[in-house]
Amino acid sequence: MKNIKDQQSFDGVSNTKLKPLIKWAGGKTRLNPILIKAAELALKSLHTEKLDYYEPFFGGGALFFELHNNEKIDKGHINDIIPHLISFYETVADDKLLNQLLEKIEQLANEFNEGDQKEIYGSAKENTGWVGDFNKLWMIDDADVKNGDDNEDQEYTIKDQLQTKHDKIQSAALFYVLNKTGFNGMFRLSQKGKFNIPKGDTNKIRLNDDDFKKNKSKESLSVKEYFQNASSILKNTSITCGSYEKLLPPMNEIDKSRSFIYLDPPYYSDSENSGFTDYSREGFEKSDHQKIANIFNQLVEDGYKVVLSNNSNTGSKKMYAENKNIFAYEVDVSRSIAKTEKGKRLPSKELLVSSFNLDDLHLEKIELIK
Ligand SMILES: C[S@@+](CC[C@H](N)C(=O)[O-])C[C@H]1O[C@@H](n2cnc3c(N)ncnc32)[C@H](O)[C@@H]1O
Repeated sequence: MKNIKDQQSFDGVSNTKLKPLIKWAGGKTRLNPILIKAAELALKSLHTEKLDYYEPFFGGGALFFELHNNEKIDKGHINDIIPHLISFYETVADDKLLNQLLEKIEQLANEFNEGDQKEIYGSAKENTGWVGDFNKLWMIDDADVKNGDDNEDQEYTIKDQLQTKHDKIQSAALFYVLNKTGFNGMFRLSQKGKFNIPKGDTNKIRLNDDDFKKNKSKESLSVKEYFQNASSILKNTSITCGSYEKLLPPMNEIDKSRSFIYLDPPYYSDSENSGFTDYSREGFEKSDHQKIANIFNQLVEDGYKVVLSNNSNTGSKKMYAENKNIFAYEVDVSRSIAKTEKGKRLPSKELLVSSFNLDDLHLEKIELIK
């Protein structure tokens, strides 16, 4: 395997050293060419070679990995509210766990590829299969989960983190294979904190190097190599689990002379457009969107280089109309998770708001009206 440093360029052409390890609702793969250029503009105006990078709504981290492909991140700071997701990244980042994780994933993939897939995937209600094993690892009231007790009144608690290496490896491996085999790669927790995505259509988890490469361009790496590359990046990254405020001023100090902040909160849904927003048990309400808009406005006022993306609709546009010092654009995208019944991608528009001018990117500039 070549060294990560050997083959980078910052010309907007994606290479294959790093890419998101998982499929994630709201993943920004489609918006990435634009976001990369926005980060490039931030770099230019900060007169720095590399950025300190902050992404408090990390998910699959499409922009983070792409900026690392181009060696544009000095120190990364990533965060998400979902402990299962963050634990996965921590496990990938840990040299002492990575090989065991890869072995476990291979074992689970073989089991799935050769066995009774429905039974192996399992169900949240019955607490069976991979889904049941995954939930048992994360839920404190283990006995009730084991009994399949689905009492509406029962309060469950999700562990903040897993304590043993064995549990971390188990969880990360299950998280990965559930992402590959669950419906549309979605992650969702029920009110009780159970992962409850049903099985999707996938009938093969592709891990074998040759098998994997057959489906991709020649330059593609194997799944193992993507994990190894991601591991070498993630181990030098600050990874936290919690709500986004913790990573942002005023709660967290950020050096504005060398930092770029990318905010990608859950979609704003209004009557026009109800996208998928419930990643976590807490959900993301209108009041949360207002709060993030207020924080964004403050970051703009305080001179940080910050870009925020969300779906564009009347409600989301209104949120940012208060501040006359921000730059707003609309970009046409088609979303990967929100598909029509016939499987076609829905045409939709993304809203980009920025503390600095992105006119050089020739996007559709918009006027925000209250
Ligand atoms: C639109 S997704 C981000 C997608 C990401 N940019 C990517 O490329 O995959 C929004 C993320 O915010 C996370 N999230 C939801 N509420 C949060 C909160 N209060 N604090 C931090 N993260 C939160 C979700 O778990 C989800 O991963």
